Amino acid sequence: MDIFSLLAVLKAIMRVIVIGGSVFLFFAACSIYTNLTTGVPWAKVPRANVYRIFKELGLPADSLVYDLGAGDGRVLFAAESFGWRAVGFELSLYPYVKACLKKIFCRSRIVIKRRDFFKENLSQADAVFIFLAGKTIARVGEKLKLELKKGALIISYGFALPGRQIEKIISTKPSLTYVYKT
Ligand SMILES: C[S@@+](CC[C@H](N)C(=O)[O-])C[C@H]1O[C@@H](n2cnc3c(N)ncnc32)[C@H](O)[C@@H]1O
Repeated sequence: MDIFSLLAVLKAIMRVIVIGGSVFLFFAACSIYTNLTTGVPWAKVPRANVYRIFKELGLPADSLVYDLGAGDGRVLFAAESFGWRAVGFELSLYPYVKACLKKIFCRSRIVIKRRDFFKENLSQADAVFIFLAGKTIARVGEKLKLELKKGALIISYGFALPGRQIEKIISTKPSLTYVYKT
């Protein structure tokens, strides 16, 4: 390889590094901003837990399941595999894009929206999945109390809803899952 070809290869490598680094920094900055504004970082519920929870709950076919803060959509894809309709809201850009790409590649019918779930009406839900913490879980608990129809389930992974009577605890690991009935 002559010196010019070597320089061209090095230039191409530098270009890939600069573009890749910029994309990485962009997504990192978006994630930090969303974490600061929502107060809840993106963390993933283990897939095996989601299937275990859904199997145990055994909702009727065609149930409408929401995931508030849907991350990479894993809860929604699992819900779809049980024959349920699945709708999620996610503000953080990186997991949202990941979920959208998977939806396209898998030709999935899940719905994922880049919206603040506090601004959405959840009255049609048959079940609502949440993996939230801190002030957000208390606030969402109030919203669900006002909006959900009678009989709808709330499935809270990892954190109990303050001031609500627990219907069932599913012993998922490393965190428990709390189920509530409205
Ligand atoms: C702990 S993660 C759970 C992700 C997913 N549900 C799972 O279990 O794998 C919580 C997600 O909620 C999102 N989130 C927090 N507040 C939100 C809001 N008001 N509207 C939409 N998404 C929100 C965060 O960006 C974060 O990705």
